[in-house]
Amino acid sequence: MASLAAAQVQEVRSITRIERIGAHSHIRGLGLDDALEPRAVSQGMVGQKMARKAAGVILQMIREGKIAGRAVLLAGQPGTGKTAIAMGLAQALGPDTPFTSMAGSEIYSLEMSKTEALTQAIRKSIGIRIKEESEIIEGEVVEVVVERAAGGGGARTGRLTLKTTDMETNYDMGTKMIDSLLKEKVQAGDVITIDKATGKINKLGRSFARARDYDATGQQARFVQCPEGELQKRKEVVHTVTLHEVDVINSRTHGFLALFSGDTGEIKSEIREQINSKVAEWREEGKAEMIPGVLFIDEAHMLDIECFSFLNRALESESAPVVIMATNRGITRIRGTNYKSPHGIPLDLLDRMIIVPTAPYSAQELKEILNIRCEEEDCQMSNDALTVLTRVATETSLRYAIQLITTASLVAKRRKATEVSMEDVKKVYSLFLDEHRSEQFLKEYQDEFMFSDVSGSGDGPQLMEVSQ
Ligand SMILES: Nc1ncnc2c1ncn2[C@@H]1O[C@H](COP(=O)(O)OP(=O)(O)O)[C@@H](O)[C@H]1O
Ligand SMILES: [Mg+2]
Repeated sequence: MASLAAAQVQEVRSITRIERIGAHSHIRGLGLDDALEPRAVSQGMVGQKMARKAAGVILQMIREGKIAGRAVLLAGQPGTGKTAIAMGLAQALGPDTPFTSMAGSEIYSLEMSKTEALTQAIRKSIGIRIKEESEIIEGEVVEVVVERAAGGGGARTGRLTLKTTDMETNYDMGTKMIDSLLKEKVQAGDVITIDKATGKINKLGRSFARARDYDATGQQARFVQCPEGELQKRKEVVHTVTLHEVDVINSRTHGFLALFSGDTGEIKSEIREQINSKVAEWREEGKAEMIPGVLFIDEAHMLDIECFSFLNRALESESAPVVIMATNRGITRIRGTNYKSPHGIPLDLLDRMIIVPTAPYSAQELKEILNIRCEEEDCQMSNDALTVLTRVATETSLRYAIQLITTASLVAKRRKATEVSMEDVKKVYSLFLDEHRSEQFLKEYQDEFMFSDVSGSGDGPQLMEVSQ
């Protein structure tokens, strides 16, 4: 019995697991409680409590939507969960708040200027909720009568009788209306809506009163209640789009299909100005609402001085999103200049930012993260194997240890074991080098490699930055 249940669970899992597993796919939120206090392990998140709490405050700020153009910098060593926290924030915000994620280096594309790339990213991070009120007629069809007018000539007249539980009305129909009724195969007993402005007909289903005609209507029929009250109603329709989508749809040179191909090119500034004033008008009339979202720029030290100064200015605009940047650099050269600055970000921009530091994990936290990753990759691992792997993570890096989960699980599968053992982990540890051992290896055999640039003195790795 128990094994049967287990088999079923397995099956359900394999069906829901069609999605691919990515570096951050185990992250499902920030793991905070209602008071924004971080739970120890929740929603795939472990430790890094201060930074998660800070992200929770930022989350609240974004949700309230009042503050535009704030910038946040996540700063810390590689593998301390900066990207993970940004992804958690995106999940916590939900699908209705725009969240754009890009790497600093993405702006160096040949197709558009750096400022255009940044402008598009900013406008992708601002949503507008457009409310449209339309008048509709909603009722159950009592009768449809279509007659050819005497004298022929193809002219037709038609009459439609609709009812609700409270009233019944006759409508005269024009040719266009008759055509669309015939096209939709509307017949007595259908519950329909007609948009008064466009004449669009929508079939909601069959009235329950007609349920006994079931055989005649076929199996697909959906039964609904006969509507109540007035036949004429006002209905509110809400669309949420980003400013960038509005730009693309309105830029004649590209057309909205460009949204799907991703090839939107540069958008003229006149178009953006027109759209800005249109949106402002809608907001004034109460037709549209702005939803400020988040622009996340990972590896922000890859931006150059022009981008930083552009961002400085863009943050001041009323329609600016909250900008979150992440970097793992210390004091380094600002791209495009010969000046050095903390995180490679100019001081005037740093001055506007609130900085959230991330710190290295404790062994216990590393173990917990590795455990979550094992679950995410559907990998059974014995307890001592996990202990060894945690040891590897403390001595090398968390990312390297995460890589070993996948490889060790494959090795275990080769020997038809269901569980990864300590030996499997040791084996892949010797098969695949981490950064430190790889460097040792290079030093040992430097003469046999091409273009070796390491000075023999052994004074640590040399990172050469190519000057522009
Ligand atoms: N607090 C955490 N909880 C769960 N997983 C984490 C946490 N911090 C990092 N990770 C995972 O560890 C890996 C490396 O972290 P990442 O966010 O890419 O580091 P960074 O961006 O700071 O260099 C990723 O797979 C990430 O999802
Ligand atoms: Mg990262």
